[in-house]
Amino acid sequence: MEAGIYALPEEYVELQSAVRALARDKIAPRAAEIDAKGEFPWDVYDALVASGFHAIHIPEEYDGMGGDNLASALVVEEIARVCGSSSLIPAVNKLGTTPLLVGASHEVKARYLPEVASGEAMFSYGLSEPEAGSDAASMRTKVTRDGDDWILNGNKRWITGAGISKYYTVLATADPGTGPKGITAFVVHADDEGFTLGAEENKLGIKGSPTRELYFDNVRLPADRMIGEVGEGWKIAMKTLDITRVTIGAQAVGMAQGALDVALEYAQERKQFGKAISDFQGIQFMLADMAMQIEAARQLVYHAAAASDRGDANVTFLGSAAKCFASDTAMKVAVDVVQVLGGYGYVKDYPAERFMRDAKITQIYEGTNQIQRLVIARQILG
Ligand code: CAA
Repeated sequence: MEAGIYALPEEYVELQSAVRALARDKIAPRAAEIDAKGEFPWDVYDALVASGFHAIHIPEEYDGMGGDNLASALVVEEIARVCGSSSLIPAVNKLGTTPLLVGASHEVKARYLPEVASGEAMFSYGLSEPEAGSDAASMRTKVTRDGDDWILNGNKRWITGAGISKYYTVLATADPGTGPKGITAFVVHADDEGFTLGAEENKLGIKGSPTRELYFDNVRLPADRMIGEVGEGWKIAMKTLDITRVTIGAQAVGMAQGALDVALEYAQERKQFGKAISDFQGIQFMLADMAMQIEAARQLVYHAAAASDRGDANVTFLGSAAKCFASDTAMKVAVDVVQVLGGYGYVKDYPAERFMRDAKITQIYEGTNQIQRLVIARQILG
């Protein structure tokens, strides 16, 4: 048996270094401003497109870089380490297009994925509704067949990237109130007649990533907009989340590490009682706990990503476990980092409070952590 093979392969270490350098040079200097202005960072988008990191997961067959789930996780982690808002650029592209990768025909993939790969289009995901969040299958957004076309009515809420994205994966039911079996997935175009957007949500964090409602008023969709077959939408939506919850785990690990970076620097510079506060055991124990928890979360995220790349049977368990553990870790770490910085942690002179605000969403989106625990429990109980 070969000894010592459990490590990130060299090509992934190189990818990690490349993204880290870009994040340090092009994104970190902008992060505070992106948060303060609450504007989508087009300059960051351009920098990510120039290196292919905006959508590394698009297969080579569709003009992409062919990065697997582990590569995507590394990209999102390194960007989130400096700017949560910017890390949603690759994360949303992945979430929006994974339904196509999971369930669409070659023709549908060939029509949309190259535009995402080139950076011409971003792709969002529309599952949640005002009254259908955790209970996603209770959606009311309705599709009705009309000859060869489908007519879409209803609305979606909490849609990341809405208004920026050119394309939207939208889940809709033929028969509201009947649960998963009537649900089908479609691609909606930003310029489809009858498709409009709500105002931008005024959020606690990830302020440089727009979140808006989608409204559909008799939007006509040709049959070739369908992702997979009639009635397959729910399974496609769930399989998508199995994969993309790992990305949220990676985002959470990045935010936690970014927050710890701030605390490590501060604790060694800040002097009280005649010495650096990092010399006090009370602070050391806090920093040690943070580092330990982040490393555990990172390993779980990488393991879950690699498992989904192999197509392991336990991806539902691992996706939820990685997302839940990493996001709970990120929130705990970020709160403790604010505490290490004391008053300086509570003001915007340091990024500690931004990491704390940004980290909170990772416990909520792509399924609350209560839903993740429910999914995990169902998996282990059989
Ligand atoms: N893979 C394949 N099939 C799956 C599956 C999976 N991971 N999970 C469920 N299914 C199947 C089940 O096997 C079942 O199939 P059968 O009827 O053939 O047996 C069917 O789907 C129904 O499953 P459940 O009975 O488990 O369904 P449920 O109604 O109890 O819901 C749930 C399950 C896990 C709670 C689900 O509703 C859920 O994940 N809720 C959270 C929704 C969510 O994560 N939303 C996030 C939106 S995206 C976002 O946040 C991004 C953004 O832009 C902000």
